[in-house]
Amino acid sequence: MTPKDNIRFGVIGAGRIGKLHAQNLTTRISGVEVATIADVDLKAAQTLAENLHVPLAVEDYHTILLDPGIDAVAICSSTDTHAKIICEAAQARKHIFCEKPIALDLGHIDSALQAVQNAGVKLQIGFNRRFDPNFRKVHSLVEEGKIGTPHILRITSRDPAPPPISYIKVSGGMFLDMTIHDFDMARYLIGSEVEEVCTAAGVMVDPAIGEAYDVDTAVITLRFTNGAIGTIDNSRKAVYGYDQRIEVFGSNGMIQANNNTPDQDIYFNAEGVHSAKPLYFFLERYLEAYIAEMAEFVQSIHEDTDPPVIGLDGRMAVVIGMAAKKSYLEHRPIRLSEITTPIFQPESYTE
Ligand SMILES: NC(=O)c1ccc[n+]([C@@H]2O[C@H](COP(=O)([O-])OP(=O)(O)OC[C@H]3O[C@@H](n4cnc5c(N)ncnc54)[C@H](O)[C@@H]3O)[C@@H](O)[C@H]2O)c1
Repeated sequence: MTPKDNIRFGVIGAGRIGKLHAQNLTTRISGVEVATIADVDLKAAQTLAENLHVPLAVEDYHTILLDPGIDAVAICSSTDTHAKIICEAAQARKHIFCEKPIALDLGHIDSALQAVQNAGVKLQIGFNRRFDPNFRKVHSLVEEGKIGTPHILRITSRDPAPPPISYIKVSGGMFLDMTIHDFDMARYLIGSEVEEVCTAAGVMVDPAIGEAYDVDTAVITLRFTNGAIGTIDNSRKAVYGYDQRIEVFGSNGMIQANNNTPDQDIYFNAEGVHSAKPLYFFLERYLEAYIAEMAEFVQSIHEDTDPPVIGLDGRMAVVIGMAAKKSYLEHRPIRLSEITTPIFQPESYTE
């Protein structure tokens, strides 16, 4: 492959996020083409392929892995398939973009990361929020020392509506499916690892979520190795829409990123002062971020550089999620050292 060749993708999974990535790859990102879409629901793959003028739709993703003309895969299938497909794709020498989480247990995550390291292919994990322009600016200002030493991080992350119970049952639960994005943002914004987690959580939105052994509301405190402390508050249902706010407070100031709204107008009348609600959900709110994350993955292949979010970032967010869940279940703060099993040595992964 020469740098000016298009990178040829196979997209695996044609559900909510697969549709979005396939659309971005075919219509919004240059230097790339989608050759094949695979889904166990063949009709879903065919419909998406037809809509996007992708030449081939298949039921079995191995067709993609066996195609020597395909350079990279976007793994957008359900969470329980990710680690196995990462291992197989690495063995087939495909570069890999994989949606979060890598897997729900460290054994499978470590096997996947080992396979990627052995094959020398690129792996990027779908932590799209790092690519949001507002959050990127917060990150840059913190990194440049504009607020001095960071002391407190506050992340508010509330969904407008819970996913179906069938999704909750296979997703890994709120901490590993939803809060995982916030754990990644916490590491990204503070630039330090989390060392201790303490969780208070409950079922306040829908008793069916509790019956599926999950929670829908949580406040999580984080302690970082650099001394900073943080809170994340989550709800599966904010009646006013997708609530995504961030604040970093430090010795020399504070940075806030507030919700994005469809317009900036504020209407005043006798009843009150009115402005638009936040953009409804992740597909609208993070549209730009999803394009940027995939564009940077493609760029990392073209330029043969490290992807901006690597496998170890995916692993760390899962470890923090496991600690958050353990803290909730055991009613005590959990140090990350209680969770991490060093099957896979991080140092050996860094190129
Ligand atoms: N980064 C984000 O913002 C974000 C948002 C939503 C979902 N996700 C992640 O993306 C993944 C998919 O979520 P979704 O909401 O699109 O789910 P979904 O249920 O809408 O779609 C999943 C698709 O994968 C297909 N599938 C399952 N097993 C397969 C296999 N072995 N081979 C091929 N296709 C298979 C299903 O038939 C389905 O069409 C999950 O891991 C989720 O955590 C990430």
